[in-house]
Amino acid sequence: MTPSLLVTDLTAGYGEVQVLKGVSLTARSQGVTAVIGSNGAGKSTLMRRLAGLLPHTGGQITFEGQDISTLASHDLVARGVVLVPEGRLIFSDMTVFENLTIGAVNPRARADRDNTLETVFDFFPRLKERRSQLGGTLSGGEQQMLALGRGLMANPKLLLLDEPTLGLAPGIAKQIFQIIPSLVKLGLSVILAEQDVHKTLAIADYVYVLENGTIGAEGLSADLQNDQRIKDAYLGA
Ligand SMILES: Nc1ncnc2c1ncn2[C@@H]1O[C@H](COP(=O)(O)OP(=O)(O)O)[C@@H](O)[C@H]1O
Ligand SMILES: [Mg+2]
Repeated sequence: MTPSLLVTDLTAGYGEVQVLKGVSLTARSQGVTAVIGSNGAGKSTLMRRLAGLLPHTGGQITFEGQDISTLASHDLVARGVVLVPEGRLIFSDMTVFENLTIGAVNPRARADRDNTLETVFDFFPRLKERRSQLGGTLSGGEQQMLALGRGLMANPKLLLLDEPTLGLAPGIAKQIFQIIPSLVKLGLSVILAEQDVHKTLAIADYVYVLENGTIGAEGLSADLQNDQRIKDAYLGA
């Protein structure tokens, strides 16, 4: 397995509040690595830390063999590490097209912008139909497509997806989930933070279970599906 991202003994938090208490994980290249955990486990904190949105307080992050532990968000985006944040956070008063092009401001993405836009519209024909519509007028599912599309516009190598289906109706959630393996086929590596264990095990290669800011269990999806401890704790079976 070729690693895309290597995380060693990572800490993170908010001022005095330490949330991550030494997290180690490996994200495989061109695979889906999932981080599952209940509400408040620290998933979003981990994703924000990996995206350079929280200060370096300890541990190490290596991306494609280079130490990126102290890099800020814009430097990480320029290298291909891109976060699609929890809650979408699209710009409501900008059009779909404007939201998408904002994703492509980094130099590596800008050169390829028109091609990438076509790829995004192929994934999400709905966004193409609504390219002139204001972001705030889209449905929740369409806003998630837009957030994902904006992330793709940055031409990522590693996409950090933080609970992409949170609050969405089951039908649209399923659609969003089905797109993730296609992204991997395009050559991307994905780290997916999720609460829904069933859906996650179905598409992830490898899974880490985050509990109170530490990794409580990990394994191949196929193995975890047969793990009694995981079943008891997360699958209600
Ligand atoms: N901006 C913040 N300031 C202080 N504490 C925060 C902040 N965001 C999250 N936390 C705390 O960090 C812990 C982990 O939260 P979070 O990473 O959002 O978990 P998850 O995404 O797994 O639900 C929680 O106890 C939460 O209250
Ligand atoms: Mg979260």
